[in-house]
Amino acid sequence: MLLSTFIKLENRVNKKMSETNPLKLSQISKQLFIETYGCQMNIADSEVVAGILSNSGYQITKLLDNADLVIINTCSVRDNAEQRVWRRLDYFASLKRKTPKLTVAVIGCMAERTGDKLLEHAAVDFVAGPDSYRELPFLIDKAQYGNKSANTNSNADETYSGIIPEHIDKGSISGFTSIMRGCNNFCTYCIVPYTRGRERSRSPEDIVNEVTGMYKSGFREVTLLGQNVNSYRRTEQNFIIDFPALIKQIANIAPDLRIRFTTSHPKDISDELLHVIAQNSNICKHIHLPVQSGSNSVLERMNRKYTREYYLERIRKIREIIPDCSITTDIFCGFSDETDYDHFQTLDLMQTVRFDSAFMFKYSEREGTYAASHLADNVSEQTKIERLNQIINLQNRISKEKNETEIGNIYEVLVEGVSKKSSDDIFGKTSQNKVVVFHNNGFKAGDYVFVKIYGATSATLLGAQIEKATL
Ligand code: SAH
Ligand code: SF4
Ligand code: F3S
Repeated sequence: MLLSTFIKLENRVNKKMSETNPLKLSQISKQLFIETYGCQMNIADSEVVAGILSNSGYQITKLLDNADLVIINTCSVRDNAEQRVWRRLDYFASLKRKTPKLTVAVIGCMAERTGDKLLEHAAVDFVAGPDSYRELPFLIDKAQYGNKSANTNSNADETYSGIIPEHIDKGSISGFTSIMRGCNNFCTYCIVPYTRGRERSRSPEDIVNEVTGMYKSGFREVTLLGQNVNSYRRTEQNFIIDFPALIKQIANIAPDLRIRFTTSHPKDISDELLHVIAQNSNICKHIHLPVQSGSNSVLERMNRKYTREYYLERIRKIREIIPDCSITTDIFCGFSDETDYDHFQTLDLMQTVRFDSAFMFKYSEREGTYAASHLADNVSEQTKIERLNQIINLQNRISKEKNETEIGNIYEVLVEGVSKKSSDDIFGKTSQNKVVVFHNNGFKAGDYVFVKIYGATSATLLGAQIEKATL
């Protein structure tokens, strides 16, 4: 999965600063371009990085050609995510031969995992892990004096409190904010607890202020991010603020601000949270609930802390309390010792739940995890591919069938922009996170429009505007 965002930060010449701090002269008129790989948390982190650097006088731009500083924000979750970055670094090494002044930095999860190795690459001038972004201005200065360095120190308290993220996709009405960082779950296959460190929650005041600011500057949808958002927990003046309490506060900011959240861990999806979602019309009716596997023995080896039966019971409860809720998931096949029968149980669970959509992968062993040292990666590549294809084919069929049942339904769609296929059309999303394309009768991003669905593919709904009065 590549969620690529390009940022270029361009130094604003700050005369006063250059007069009082001659060292900063070296930065003036440098421009920075960031590529972001991996999960949505990395996109949010790139915005934090842009915020930190804007405090040092940089600003965002989008043209690689103009860049004298490139930052690559990386992911380690599967090997192919890392291989993509190595290939990209080879490209930047060739670019540096033509433009020797170009500085290239690698940040994010791969920086944390393979810092020293990355520094050996000809393209790389410095490396910073996910807890070291406040140090970026110093690392940039050092690199400009020719000193290669890596800062991959973990900081169990870092939540980037006080940093105002610089929103990259100007004009977008949909944004992200991280409400917590890290993960304590240690699923045996997963590298995230090692790259992101222990779970820590941001102060509710910081989050509410940030989201209020986003609303005031035109955002109409915000996604609250964390590896395990529903284990959010802060003690403020002897009060415990958990995820249901936090999301209620955020929903109260404005009735026309849609709230989404991802990712939820099945073990923490409480009835209380489901009632809060049901009772607040601006909390979107969509839950992303990664199941990973339908087999209890695989789930146990994965240390997922739930069974197939528990997961199915949570799905039943979601549908009882929020009948119009869409449910999506993550699944991967080919984990250690996965048999045909285990795989069949995954397909069976998919048919039982009928997810609206899914992110689907094959197991990729990650050095440093419990599984890498204790559980053999013993499903052949060919079997992994065959199983993944079966999973994808089944999900595509279910997604298409589910979308076809939407025909005739009416949804309130939040407009996001002009359709990529035709400038006469616009697209937006339903509360259930389904993309709807419809004719542009002069709408703009941020408008709410009632739309009747008349067509569907596995990924998109086609609709036509209707007057609210006809509902
Ligand atoms: N915190 C979330 C998601 C983390 S990473 C959760 O607990 O569900 C996103 C997805 O990548 C995971 O849900 C899982 O499906 C997949 N994934 C993680 N590690 C993997 C690995 N080593 N090989 C293949 N897929 C993996
Ligand atoms: Fe990884 Fe599991 Fe944490 Fe998700 S919950 S980030 S899969 S360790
Ligand atoms: Fe990847 Fe790190 Fe996110 S490993 S999935 S970028 S937390």
